[in-house]
Amino acid sequence: MTPLQLSFRGPLVGSLTLPGDKSVSHRAVLFNLLASGRATVNGLLRSEDVEASMRAARALGAVIDEHDDGRITITGTGGTLTEPTDVIDCGNSGTTMRLLTGLIASEPLFAVLTGDASLRGRPMRRVADPLRAMGVVVDGRHQGDRAPLAIRGGGRPLGEVSLSVASAQVKTCLLLAHRAYGLRLREPARSRDHSERMLRAMGATLIEDEAGWLCLSPCPVLSALDVDVPGDLSSAAFFLVAASIVAGSDVRLRHVGVNPTRTGVIDALRAMGADLTVQAVDAAGAEPMADVRVRATTLHAARIEGELALRCLDELPVLAVAAAFAEGTTVIADAAELRVKESDRIATTVAGLRALGVAVEETPDGMIIEGGVPGVSEPRVIDAHGDHRIAMAFAVASLALPDGATAPRITGAEVISTSYPDFMNHVEALCG
Ligand code: S3P
Repeated sequence: MTPLQLSFRGPLVGSLTLPGDKSVSHRAVLFNLLASGRATVNGLLRSEDVEASMRAARALGAVIDEHDDGRITITGTGGTLTEPTDVIDCGNSGTTMRLLTGLIASEPLFAVLTGDASLRGRPMRRVADPLRAMGVVVDGRHQGDRAPLAIRGGGRPLGEVSLSVASAQVKTCLLLAHRAYGLRLREPARSRDHSERMLRAMGATLIEDEAGWLCLSPCPVLSALDVDVPGDLSSAAFFLVAASIVAGSDVRLRHVGVNPTRTGVIDALRAMGADLTVQAVDAAGAEPMADVRVRATTLHAARIEGELALRCLDELPVLAVAAAFAEGTTVIADAAELRVKESDRIATTVAGLRALGVAVEETPDGMIIEGGVPGVSEPRVIDAHGDHRIAMAFAVASLALPDGATAPRITGAEVISTSYPDFMNHVEALCG
């Protein structure tokens, strides 16, 4: 594939409706697969990752109809899944694979899950080990830690689980595996709560007690749920940063999901001095939404760590780009989980920034970035490393380079279609 090399700069001006939230889209498909009845989903993200979840849901017995107006309807299985007749390919999607392991675990089924090279390199022990403790047979490469995973479901409940990593994918996997029995689960910090919201809306009883345990009551049947998927704040993040750092920009993003467990990118940008206006809009469903306006301004350095880093983990590569254009030294810490995303995002972000001439120090759990206006004169190559967010973060950096600097050539940028197939069309539309 030809590398992506931007031949234009900003400013970015206009308004945009973002594609549907990826996390909510996966759940709308995979939870309705379990439900009894028929659900309509509006605004589902149509990207390779969500296609992987739709393929998997069909393989496990859901009937999914795709309509010309963009709606999809899903007729669920009522909870009894069909044994898939072939290997399920989860593509690049960690969410698909980890949620599926939980779905399959509680059923007397055999299934094999695989994915692309990036996904086959990601750790699966975090979901496999608790399922093994339930008596589920989960085998895979690297002593059972890497896909392809072969799963023979049908286990007994654990009762209580304390997770060592705050991960919505692991949490959701275990909630799904325990849906018929109930579960008490605790995380070291609160990960995104889309699953809790959606499961409650489908009839599950799920409460958080005073000690911070999430308590799921036995819930043999879920009711089909119509979902209006909000715009994806993680996709919006590329425009929040681009419009902040490209002089003269003024962008309005409509109907963006602003679930508080996800809004760290807004808080981090505000801490850097960004000019953001967030206006709540009425949302009938379980997820809050807002219109967000962002205007260019001079950003300054910030410390992004602790709970804030967790709430903007997926947005840290593009926030690192913002930091490269800000005044002062930005510290990103407590983000070691970045190393096991679609790529080692600490290493790939640092490599990309260095290719732009930015002084950046890699640390075990983050990076330290010297701000300023980067811009090397000779063309450089940045490898996306199979990671959509790396490709988009450096496309954003390209928009903000000073005149005379050559935009980097981003190799492997076709991976952008895993989460945001229209990304470059939207960039071009806003840049006129
Ligand atoms: C996701 C959870 C997060 C996030 C990923 C999507 C989800 O991963 O990084 O992009 O939809 O549950 P972890 O669960 O590993 O934190």
